Amino acid sequence: MTESRDKNRVIIFDTTLRDGEQAPGASLNHREKIEIAHALAALNVDVIEAGFPIASPGDFAAVKAVAEQVRGPVIAGLARCVEKDIDRCAEAVCAGPRPRIHVFLATSAIHRKFKLRKARSEIIRQAVAMVKYARRRCADVEFSAEDAARTEPDFLAQVVEAVIDAGAGTVNIPDTVGYAIPNQYGELIAGLYETVPNIHKAVISVHCHNDLGLAVANSIAAVQNGARAVECTINGLGERAGNCALEEFVMALRTRADAFHLHTQINTREIHRVSRMVSRMTGIAVQRNKAIVGANAFAHEAGVHQDGILKDRRTYEIMRPEDIGIEGSDLVLGKHSGRHAFRDKLTRMGMTLSDSEIEAAYNRFIELADKKKHIYDDDLLSIAREQMDEMPNAYLLDYLHVSAGTGTIPTATLRLKRGTHVSQDAGCGDGPVDAALKTIDRITRIRGRLLDFSLQAITVGKDAMGEVTVRVQFGKEIVSAKAASTDIVEAGAKAYLSCVNRLLFNRALRKAASRKGTPNP
Ligand code: KIV
Ligand code: ZN
Repeated sequence: MTESRDKNRVIIFDTTLRDGEQAPGASLNHREKIEIAHALAALNVDVIEAGFPIASPGDFAAVKAVAEQVRGPVIAGLARCVEKDIDRCAEAVCAGPRPRIHVFLATSAIHRKFKLRKARSEIIRQAVAMVKYARRRCADVEFSAEDAARTEPDFLAQVVEAVIDAGAGTVNIPDTVGYAIPNQYGELIAGLYETVPNIHKAVISVHCHNDLGLAVANSIAAVQNGARAVECTINGLGERAGNCALEEFVMALRTRADAFHLHTQINTREIHRVSRMVSRMTGIAVQRNKAIVGANAFAHEAGVHQDGILKDRRTYEIMRPEDIGIEGSDLVLGKHSGRHAFRDKLTRMGMTLSDSEIEAAYNRFIELADKKKHIYDDDLLSIAREQMDEMPNAYLLDYLHVSAGTGTIPTATLRLKRGTHVSQDAGCGDGPVDAALKTIDRITRIRGRLLDFSLQAITVGKDAMGEVTVRVQFGKEIVSAKAASTDIVEAGAKAYLSCVNRLLFNRALRKAASRKGTPNP
């Protein structure tokens, strides 16, 4: 970004759709990525890293669609320091008005020796050549020195100087493995400012992983020492233990402006909404006691605290719930609510569905409202999300009956529809879920191995919908999906069926890509 900048403003680079989606168990479909990107734009992030275009045809399509459809933030795509990655990335991000190519290459001794088998000089040569190559396709290029926190500081300084000379406008100093501690990491950044002569020609960015629970603290140490961009994710999602949590970093800067004298341009009142959306769509729950967005973050249990809060909230609250967009109860709709109110509510929650999807979602809502007294925002998000499962030629669950109990053999009878074709079968298993999944295998003739099955209540109460997230292995391919229902066997069967549909969809995409000769690692 070349515009003249307020020197105390920290750029927020959101990588929920790239590093966040690499979180074990997280998987987002095309529509979900676009919805999240719109929500990130409403949150006013500066940069959205929308994916890794060379990784798969689906990733490419999502980055391109985000670049085409989402206005406001810069849209970045990730690329290794190789020409084919950069070409593919350029093709995706340049579909929009504010593209960025983000190239990365490891610099630490351990990565040079064991992963890349390259000498220092070769690393510098490749980084410079690929930054220049990317600059020919895009004016905004970021370079990341992967594993920078474990790189020899003198060599890191040489890399940073060289890539800035080659045209990188942002240079990222990632703590890829979450090894850094705040004072050392802060010193590393300060050292770069002291030793790299051209450093003021670029924005220094940081990207901290949370393996030691220090990602936010390290990011803060970095900005206190001159870094002016922070790469983070909603709810701290990301590879392994995740990344710096956007909401924690932003609220720390805001709440302790007296100490940091730094700010972001984040619209903090959107934080709660985006956090929920990301949690619902990825199927990764936010721990109750998580800072800022956990269910307990603003709950006061102890009598002394409650008394203080009633007298003056500031006695025990350093932030107001409304600062992050929590406003009273979200219990909104009931079975007498009409289509108009339903559509309006979804729009206010940031969900953009077509007319036919609204109709299908509304019918599903009425069905649910018949079974369940209270419908919460999270129920609505889950219903809307179902409409985004956009696999063509998908199998649909048309009928499910299970019988199980003490002393009986669990059995399931299922009917599946695929287009106009209807198939049914029955099977037994260790329990009702196992029986249902085995019957799906029999009907589809696709055998999956269930790696993970997790169940989460979407809201509160005995009648709460259960959301099941499954991870299934089909040969070498692992797919995950989720589904919700007030009946958890049905939710499990639907989630498993979504994995089968996703597998078929991926196979079709790969077939189409190989016909067109698109690279597909
Ligand atoms: O953790 C890391 O180093 C990364 C880079 C690709 C920025 O995610
Ligand atoms: Zn990362």
